[in-house]
Amino acid sequence: MNHIPNSIQARDIASIVHPQTNLALHETQGPVVMERGEGIYIFDDAGERYLDAAAGLWCASLGYASERLAKVAYEQMRKMGYYHLYRHTSHAIGVELAERLLQMAPVPMSKVLFQCSGSEANDTAIKLVWYYHSAIGKPGKRKIIGRKMGYHGSTSASISASGKPDMHADFGLPFPDFRHTEFPHWYRMREAGESEEQFATRMADALEKMILREGPETCGAFIAEPVMGAGGGIVPPRTYWQKMQAVVRKYDMLFIADEVICGFGRTGNMWGSQTYDLQPDMISSAKALSAGMQPISALLVNERIYQAMLDESRKLGGFAHGFTYAGHPVTSAVALETLKIYEEMDMLGHVRSVGPYMQQVMAGFLDHPLIGDVRGVGMIVGLEMVRDKATGAAFDPALKLGARVDRLARKHGLIARSIGDRVAFSPPLIITETEVDDMAARLRRALDDAYAEVRTQ
Ligand SMILES: Cc1ncc(COP(=O)(O)O)c(C=O)c1O
Repeated sequence: MNHIPNSIQARDIASIVHPQTNLALHETQGPVVMERGEGIYIFDDAGERYLDAAAGLWCASLGYASERLAKVAYEQMRKMGYYHLYRHTSHAIGVELAERLLQMAPVPMSKVLFQCSGSEANDTAIKLVWYYHSAIGKPGKRKIIGRKMGYHGSTSASISASGKPDMHADFGLPFPDFRHTEFPHWYRMREAGESEEQFATRMADALEKMILREGPETCGAFIAEPVMGAGGGIVPPRTYWQKMQAVVRKYDMLFIADEVICGFGRTGNMWGSQTYDLQPDMISSAKALSAGMQPISALLVNERIYQAMLDESRKLGGFAHGFTYAGHPVTSAVALETLKIYEEMDMLGHVRSVGPYMQQVMAGFLDHPLIGDVRGVGMIVGLEMVRDKATGAAFDPALKLGARVDRLARKHGLIARSIGDRVAFSPPLIITETEVDDMAARLRRALDDAYAEVRTQ
């Protein structure tokens, strides 16, 4: 495609390397240029309106524009637009946010470390696993076990913890100390006749075998999302978490709950850890913490880890880790206000009321010839597209069904997130029942078109 000289599209191609984008295709296709938002809808520069059922990247919990958050950022910038937390300095807004997060934590947590992204929160958590075990005299416990298809970010360590071979390829990653246990996608990975409970036992056994194979004295931590996001919106099979956590504890490993997607209401509780009764040692959070309006993340650590960090400071003379923008006053002010908005609007009540409606409407897609399974929790739902509904047999990957549905959904004014042959939905948490109906109507048109296309092939 030839783009008009000097158009945003042409200038974009000449100037930006886009994340998670086929750069060769981008040179010919160019970008869709987004311009403004209204509630859960986003508009491109041609005036097309899209219902964003992905909340951007699972983060725009309050939609796309907010006078109130804008005002808070503006006021904070006028008062003090920057200061850091290094070397014994602080500011009230950072303290207030940290206190609020500790009060909200699903299990007792001791302290908060701030960063700017989910990747950095998980990167910090991984460093702290190594630091903690060194501090307690077990420096050999360095291995981090994640899961196939788990996603924890793009920094060298957080992507190493992620089970995404496509994101390791040619970067020479993962780093040597990272392992990935089984993908807990019951519908796709189950054996014939295997119940969710039996499957969960097999998953926990696989983790235990991996730990024994590696040597428990080398295994430092397990990192996982309560509900897998980028893996396809995969809800854990029944009894999975209970069994997995028992294995992690048995071998004296730390547990990092990556709440970057699940945190702040997505699963119908404030934390995914509450929905699934998790007892993590560290919790990473980001995204909806600031409704996606400012780049901020928070890592919560428990007392056991903090005490070890304290010992290290006594020994080494300081905690040698940090980011220039950690606890940035503007991002902290916006996050704090976001949390106040959640409370005032009874965001949890809203998710608990509209979430089940969304799950019920989406379950209606089981009547569609392409859909074999629909599963979700709170305001996450994943639809599995299958060639044969009776056997669950998958489509030929060459058909690129997911990408096809993405393209057709956009044609019908819907942004969804396809992952292989799954389509995941995680709309802004403010979505109403009427908007859920709108989302479903657009999706049905896209699936009908996709079915018509694949039938002719
Ligand atoms: C579960 C999870 N953890 C971590 C990340 C990385 O967050 P960020 O892109 O802010 O670095 C993501 C991003 O999608 C995520 O879904």
